[in-house]
Amino acid sequence: MGVKLKKFVDSLPIMETLKPNRKTKHESYYVVSMEETRQRLHRDLAPTTVWGYQGQYPGPTIDVNQGERVRIKWVNNLPSTHFLPVDKSIHDLDHLPEVRTVTHLHGANVAPESDGYPEAWYTKDYKEVGPFFKQKVYEYNNFQRGATLWYHDHAMGITRLNVYAGLAGMYIIRDHKERSLGLPEGPYEIPLIIQDRTFNRDGSLFYPEQPNNPSEDLPHPSIQPFFLGDTIVVNGKVWPFLEVEPRKYRFRILNASNTRSYQLYLDSGQSFHQIGSDGGLLAQTVKLEKIEIEPGVRVDVIVDFSDYDGDTILLKNDLGPNAAPEDETDDILQFKVTKSLSGKDHGRIPQYLSEIPTLTKNNITAIRNLKLVSTTDKWERPLLLLDHKMWNDPITEKPQLGATEIWSLINVTGFSHPIHIHLVQFQILDRRPFDLDRYNQDGQIVYTGPAKPPAPNERGWKDIVSAPSAEITRVIMKFSPYTGHYVWHCHILEHEDYDMMRPLLVVPQEK
Ligand code: C2O
Ligand code: CU
Ligand code: CU
Repeated sequence: MGVKLKKFVDSLPIMETLKPNRKTKHESYYVVSMEETRQRLHRDLAPTTVWGYQGQYPGPTIDVNQGERVRIKWVNNLPSTHFLPVDKSIHDLDHLPEVRTVTHLHGANVAPESDGYPEAWYTKDYKEVGPFFKQKVYEYNNFQRGATLWYHDHAMGITRLNVYAGLAGMYIIRDHKERSLGLPEGPYEIPLIIQDRTFNRDGSLFYPEQPNNPSEDLPHPSIQPFFLGDTIVVNGKVWPFLEVEPRKYRFRILNASNTRSYQLYLDSGQSFHQIGSDGGLLAQTVKLEKIEIEPGVRVDVIVDFSDYDGDTILLKNDLGPNAAPEDETDDILQFKVTKSLSGKDHGRIPQYLSEIPTLTKNNITAIRNLKLVSTTDKWERPLLLLDHKMWNDPITEKPQLGATEIWSLINVTGFSHPIHIHLVQFQILDRRPFDLDRYNQDGQIVYTGPAKPPAPNERGWKDIVSAPSAEITRVIMKFSPYTGHYVWHCHILEHEDYDMMRPLLVVPQEK
């Protein structure tokens, strides 16, 4: 349906690093303005209307040190109407202003007033504000370890549209320990924000009126709201290329797509050396030929081009044996090893990277069994829910401050969901398969095998966990050091908006 575009004709843009408006010993202060702009996303495509932080798509990279106090005023300077179709039938949200925004720093340990609660939205110049927190300037203490985080819009009911329009950017926290490892840095450390888009002939972005229209002939029970674009965009360019030197590079990869997951591999047959996950460095480097990356997830990898001088290498997405022949999303990015080596490659791939203390020795305060279910709304349209509850149902997940909890995500839908929990970085305990047919018949959970430990590259800090169909996925986390209102949700943005999101309230400790 969309336009076909020639691959690998534009070079990969690198987002600029945002400069603070003010920097003192005590804090860095930024003002970031969301603006509508037109940007050329491919050589042969007319400029595309996008929304960008600082008028840039993707947004500029925010690069901070651990412990650096950052305050950001996120200003909405967007028009009052959306350029993408707003589905007014959902959530009974038709009375809300059509364009509303609120910025969330994904993966960050922040106070609730600065977390970007979905109902803490506001319009241009704060003319109207949602029912929640009315804080204009957000505070980030950056106490957590070095990590690749990202910021993106999180406004109630239209997150999928605002992120698709372009409201996303990378946020990097750096720490001393990581610096001492001698990983590739400077021009050899490159952020990759991968997204899928569909373009109309005039260069505009295509997005359907209702991504959950049942006329999309998906068989029940795999019927679900979703959006899959036919074109891959990396750092804001369609299928770009990157010229590299024959040396080691570090890529901080973020999947900022709405629904699409990728199975990344290199067509040279070489491996990735994965050094980090959502919450920073792993304990040990993991060598992998293929890496799955679901929406919202970050993987930090080193790729060594030393033996490939003069070669062209593709970063590919394995679509599996059932891919349609016309599906072009198997290509992502082209590396051309054409630059001459400037100086020696001092970058190392250490085997041991960091300490990851295990949470299982903590006192477990609560174990929650939470079902991921698919159902239909009052118009018989597919709807996905967490534990059979809608957003507005009373809050049920109320961990106590300082508590360590285990959440068992029981997926009784026909497909996998990347589940994200705000405030915390968690650890994955295990996944145990059960008989979904049996469950559908009589509601019984009958295990079909033993619990499986997480994959080696999942044994670090995570803020999104892949919860596969017909499995119980268990994660463990500690809720601290803030009390207040947060959320947890599926990070497929069409699921999140069509009700796969629930409040999370951290309550004070009982005395
Ligand atoms: Cu990246 Cu609540 O989201
Ligand atoms: Cu988040
Ligand atoms: Cu989902």
